Amino acid sequence: MSESAGHFEDERAGGAGGDSAHAVGELPAGFLLARVGEDGDPASFLELRRATDREGRGVRCDLSTIRLRGGASEARGMPVVRALGEARTIVDATAGLLGDAFLIAVAGREVTAIERSRVVYELAKDGLSRAMRDPVLSELLGGRLQLVHADARAWLAARAGTSSAPDAVLMDPMFPPKKRASALPRKEMVMLREMVGADLDAAELLRVARESARQRVILKRGDDAPELAKPDWSIEGTTVRFDVFTKNT
Ligand SMILES: C[S@@+](CC[C@H](N)C(=O)[O-])C[C@H]1O[C@@H](n2cnc3c(N)ncnc32)[C@H](O)[C@@H]1O
Repeated sequence: MSESAGHFEDERAGGAGGDSAHAVGELPAGFLLARVGEDGDPASFLELRRATDREGRGVRCDLSTIRLRGGASEARGMPVVRALGEARTIVDATAGLLGDAFLIAVAGREVTAIERSRVVYELAKDGLSRAMRDPVLSELLGGRLQLVHADARAWLAARAGTSSAPDAVLMDPMFPPKKRASALPRKEMVMLREMVGADLDAAELLRVARESARQRVILKRGDDAPELAKPDWSIEGTTVRFDVFTKNT
C-alpha cells in the first residue's frame, strides 16, 4: 500500500523467519491506539496509551520535539551520523518512533526506515505525515525519509547483492531491561518495550544486515551492554555507544 504522497510503503513480508508476536504487532490487552483531536484537524495525532491513562498522556511520534537549532550541520555532528561514515543510502532497520532516522535524513542522507510492529508503524507514519505538513520540518527532511512496514530481516535479505542494497544499515533493537538500571528509561521506551517486547532476534538481524550493507552496519547499544558481536570500532555517546561493523571483516 503506498500513500499518495509517496512517503509510505507497506511491504510487510510474511514468513521469512518472522516472529509472529512482533510481526503482527497487535495491541496487547490494556492498550489503546487512539486519535486525539478531530479527524481532519492537522493538529490531531495518534497516540498509544494504557486504557487507564488520560487522553493526551500516551506515546506519540512528534518529530518537532527533536531540537536541532543548528539544522543539518548540527545533525552531521551527531554520533549516529558520524558512525555512518561516507554512506549515502541508509536503512534504519529498527525505525521505532523515527528519532534516529530523522537525524540521519536531516544530515542529508537518504533513509529507508523499516518498522515491523503495525502499531509502532502507525504511530511513526502519523508523526512523519505531520512533519511533512510542517514547513520547517519538511524542509529539514527534504523528502529523504521513507517509512516501510516490514520485517527488516526479510526486506534486507531480498535486496542483498542487488542495486537496491543500502550503503549502511543502522540497528537499534530493543534489549531486555537491565537488572539494575541506574536510571529509568524514557516513558516512550518503557511503553514501547511493553508493546513490542525485547527484540530477541537482534543477532539474526545483525547477520542479515552485514550480508546486505555495502559498506557498514551500525549497532546502537546501551553504553554498558555486552557486544552482540565483536565490532571493528565503537563511537561512545553519553549513555549509548555505536558499534561499527565494516564490510571487509
Ligand atoms: C528501540 S526501538 C528503535 C528506536 C528508534 N531508533 C528511534 O529513534 O525511535 C526498536 C524498534 O525496532 C523494531 N524492530 C526490531 N526488530 C525489527 C526488525 N527485524 N524489522 C523491523 N523492525 C524491527 C521494534 O518493533 C521497535 O519498534
